[in-house]
Amino acid sequence: MQIVSTLSDLRTARLSLDGTVALVPTMGYLHEGHLSLIRKAKQECRNVVLSIFVNPAQFGANEDLSKYPRDLERDLALVSPLGVDLVWTPTPEIMYPNGYQTWVEVEAMTRPLEGAMRPTHFKGVTTVVAKLFNATQPDKAYFGQKDAQQAAVIRQMVRDLNFPIEIIVCPTMREADGLAMSSRNKYLEGDDRKAATILFRALTAARSAYEGGERNAEVLRRKMREVLGNEPRAQVQYVSCADYDTLEELETINGKTLLSMAVLLGKTRLIDNFVLE
Ligand code: PAJ
Repeated sequence: MQIVSTLSDLRTARLSLDGTVALVPTMGYLHEGHLSLIRKAKQECRNVVLSIFVNPAQFGANEDLSKYPRDLERDLALVSPLGVDLVWTPTPEIMYPNGYQTWVEVEAMTRPLEGAMRPTHFKGVTTVVAKLFNATQPDKAYFGQKDAQQAAVIRQMVRDLNFPIEIIVCPTMREADGLAMSSRNKYLEGDDRKAATILFRALTAARSAYEGGERNAEVLRRKMREVLGNEPRAQVQYVSCADYDTLEELETINGKTLLSMAVLLGKTRLIDNFVLE
């Protein structure tokens, strides 16, 4: 497993890779969710490149950039048995040198949901992912369904900018009680950790209604709010029942649909979603 930081070392290492190349972009502090992307990538491609970069551009002014958990030693120990070929750990100075002024922005579909709560977030995500794509030139790139809007926005960017890269979206890995795995779960303590299952329970209730034949999107949104309302610690930011590709809120469900939500538990912000096929 090669570990590189500078762009010139990355280029040299990339040129030495023979055969198909998968990219798994992460911000580190890896958990089973990230590892599932790496395993899938290794099944499908000869080489796996893992990037670890806590991207300052996607954090808002009041967000947790300086407190974002980091542990490179631990991350490397977790991924070395998985057959990762190359780990790229650029610094902020490498990605955004002095005088940096070029941004990639996807328009309409970055406005609702996460975009409404975090107005500069997706501009940071699409810019860094475009740079990661350019630097590593992968055949396929792997993202988690956990960040459903991020995956949809990246699929759109790849279509719009003609990146010759296949985007693979992998299922959300969960704890035994249903909580979606996330690097931020480490902030959850005691009663907040217990309360955090409320997102999974709200999504499950809405999906059950859908499976029972309910096609009115507003009824599903109300159902999710009702379940979340049973948890006094949960402060709901949004609840959505939207088209899977465009992320526009639906009145009636008649195709692939995304149920999603963001909830604050104390200071920890949790997101989760289910896809209705
Ligand atoms: P990060 O939060 O580290 O997540 C890296 C990848 O792991 C993302 O594609 C995310 O959707 C996926 N992931 C996270 N939790 C998951 C889970 N429980 N199950 C399955 N996949 C999961 O997302 C980012 O980093 C950044 O925005 C990035 C794309 C790297 C750009 O900076």
